[in-house]
Amino acid sequence: MTEPVVLNPDQVSRIVEAARSRLKAAMPHATVDRMLAQSSDMPCSITRSDDTIVYANEMYLEMCELKLEDLIGKTHRVVKSGYQSAVVYDHINAVLSDGGTWWGEFCNRTPHESLKWVEAFIAPVEDESLIFFAALYRDNMAGHRTDSPLQLHDLVLEPMAESVLIADAHDQDLPIIYVNEAWTRLTGYRLEETMGRNCRFLQGNGTDESTINELRRCLKQAEIFRGEVLNYRKEGTPFWNELEIRPVRGGDGELTHFVGTSNDVTERRHFRAQSEFEENILKRLARGQPLDDVLRDIALSVEEQFSPLSTSIFLVDKDDGVLVARCAPNLPESFFKLVC
Ligand SMILES: Cc1cc2nc3c(=O)[nH]c(=O)nc-3n(C[C@H](O)[C@H](O)[C@H](O)COP(=O)(O)O)c2cc1C
Repeated sequence: MTEPVVLNPDQVSRIVEAARSRLKAAMPHATVDRMLAQSSDMPCSITRSDDTIVYANEMYLEMCELKLEDLIGKTHRVVKSGYQSAVVYDHINAVLSDGGTWWGEFCNRTPHESLKWVEAFIAPVEDESLIFFAALYRDNMAGHRTDSPLQLHDLVLEPMAESVLIADAHDQDLPIIYVNEAWTRLTGYRLEETMGRNCRFLQGNGTDESTINELRRCLKQAEIFRGEVLNYRKEGTPFWNELEIRPVRGGDGELTHFVGTSNDVTERRHFRAQSEFEENILKRLARGQPLDDVLRDIALSVEEQFSPLSTSIFLVDKDDGVLVARCAPNLPESFFKLVC
């Protein structure tokens, strides 16, 4: 690390090392571990809790193409490109002020007005009773990017209302490198909890193996996948994910990323299942199937939806009030004595 301007060298080392260990502990994924271990000399900046920059090393200055005096005492607005939505910054502030760590991408602007994507790892650190935010950076995504930043920005940040996930196709396990806010709202997982992991952690009990086989085949052949997959949110509730995954190629035709968009279609599926069930009941009645059998299936279907409640059905003639049929598949016979 280069000489600090405001902080003394010991303090800088302490803060950076504390931030590095916090980040490694918070994101125990091989990809992150590799990145943070790769170089002990990453571009680095430290800000105080009032957002002013109190330290920037030589590599950070090179990355931003700025001089120390352009940065010290200023905020990171100096390098902000304005191409990222305020939602992203609100999210980062919320996570960090809660004491959490953040890992993601910034689209910065150089003094020559060119845009530059950098990957940032930020952790709050308390030192001498003050809170600092230490940020470690990776320039240019270490070759991950072959797209121009603007294309990527259009692709990722414009459809903010839609849940978007990007996976790195250079790595066989297709690790996540980006999820947007809408995806976090849908699944409950924050960006930094998912980075570097394969998305299969969303799957669970009841996820259809043949759909996943087809998904796997599409990824292998770099074809578009469209399908509905049973997934689980972070807090454990299932949802039906209408998933579309598209391969993305760089200018030279090389496969670089996969982009997935998700849509919660749980209600639509329930409605569809309900309509199919009703149609089936009507057909069975029209075919003259025994009323008791049909009522029993209706009662069981209602119980399935309102588990653990039991259902009873009474069919009464509207004109004379006579009981035509009754059914309570999971209640004792004594139940009828009580109510009839
Ligand atoms: C961009 C992208 C998005 C994905 N999104 C999901 C998802 O939302 N839900 C899911 O169950 N699987 C998703 N997957 C699929 C899994 O990550 C994984 O590829 C799949 O389970 C098949 O691989 P496996 O057999 O190694 O698990 C996604 C994959 C990619 C590349």
